[in-house]
Amino acid sequence: MNKIVNHLPTKDLQALDAAHHMHPFTENAELAKKGVKIITAADGVMLTDSDGNQILDGMAGLWCVNIGYGRKELADVAYAQMQQLPYYNTFFQTSHVPAISLSAKLAEISPEGFNHTFFATGGSEANDTNIRMVRHYWAAKDKPNKKTIISRINGYHGSTMGGASLGGMKGMHAQGGLPIANITYIGQPDWYNEAGDLSPLEFGLLRAKELEEKIHELGEENVAAFIAEPVQGAGGVIVPPESYWPEIQRICDEYDILLIADEVICGFGRTGHWFGTDYYGIRPHIMTIAKGLSSGYAPIGGSMVCDEVASVINSAGDFAHGYTYGGHPVGAAVALENLRIIQEENLIEKAASDTMPYLAEKWHDLSNHPLIGEANMVGFMGSLVMTPDKSSRAKFAADVGTVGLIARGHSFGNGLIMRHVGDRMIISPPITISRSEIDTLINLASKSLDETLADIKDQGLYK
Ligand SMILES: Cc1ncc(COP(=O)(O)O)c(C=O)c1O
Repeated sequence: MNKIVNHLPTKDLQALDAAHHMHPFTENAELAKKGVKIITAADGVMLTDSDGNQILDGMAGLWCVNIGYGRKELADVAYAQMQQLPYYNTFFQTSHVPAISLSAKLAEISPEGFNHTFFATGGSEANDTNIRMVRHYWAAKDKPNKKTIISRINGYHGSTMGGASLGGMKGMHAQGGLPIANITYIGQPDWYNEAGDLSPLEFGLLRAKELEEKIHELGEENVAAFIAEPVQGAGGVIVPPESYWPEIQRICDEYDILLIADEVICGFGRTGHWFGTDYYGIRPHIMTIAKGLSSGYAPIGGSMVCDEVASVINSAGDFAHGYTYGGHPVGAAVALENLRIIQEENLIEKAASDTMPYLAEKWHDLSNHPLIGEANMVGFMGSLVMTPDKSSRAKFAADVGTVGLIARGHSFGNGLIMRHVGDRMIISPPITISRSEIDTLINLASKSLDETLADIKDQGLYK
């Protein structure tokens, strides 16, 4: 059997990686000099690296390993499915049992009126599907001009041409000639950095009303949809003020546009509910799903489509769209088993009633640290905003991200995966994390903040 080897010494693996492997969202030349960190095994919330170090994964991989690592049931299901039917597609009037069962299961756990799923292999592809689907929907309803999709600055919807165009990340748009046509943006509900003297409620309303202004500016007859994450994840865990989503919902109800909730991070327990839309009481027309759908054990994603949109698309002839591996039998079987575990072990209810409030309290206590201006937590998505001056919510004089990078370095060094987005620190641990593991996470985060503060004082960055 050709087993993947990891017995080479770390420095040899690093040299091979530097010589042959191109990393996403990475300065590869810099990394090659430094040497990559190599993860070789994982169990529960803990990772092991190639030197045998234990690291607490405060990010659940990339926000995806919701049920934690090492669940043998998922490996067993993948093995059995590979033997039974390793591949078949769902094009051209065929189907297979895992895709059928998973689409039925998703209909059962999703909000009322969601009974159909179009599968992809991840979130970016699913968002590409959404662009084509909403435009096709309006064309089928004799409104072919309704093409424009409104999104948000600093939203993240993936890395394909479509996904990155829906996303409002300037750095991504600068590479590859993005965005594609007919996608436009409104501001994000980032109260801490952008509200000035407005209260959170005032600012939430103001940012939501930008959607209405944009619809007026473009003409309702030209707008297909609005897309947003219930809580922006990759943008830095930006938790919208309470006034934001009800106003967005009012606007979407009042004008004839579709609402797409990108649930790629928020879905499958991360907010303490099945979906972020449940947490906020939002009623979208389409939900993008991936990540926690299979807890990252196998690639799968999709677009969950409400009955109205599904019936129009299904009656409009051939929807000329699909991916070879969309709804892959192994991914679908693994996702089904993952959902069974979440459901039968009551993982969401247990976290929501116990460990989520436990972490939230301790996380909010970190706002007493001299470096922290604000601590946010929804379910198990948290951010800490670092500042040189709490009272004015000031930014550091150094380039954005300088202090964040220092803090991330200390965190990794202390054995905690905590990410930085600019000068915000973010976490998103597996929803199975225990109270004692939360204590460890908080201690390591706190120690990393102390070390960061000492460092930036030494370097004259904290004034
Ligand atoms: C909200 C959101 N949408 C879409 C994506 C893209 O998903 P994928 O990386 O599976 O293509 C991500 C990935 O982080 C995401 O956070």
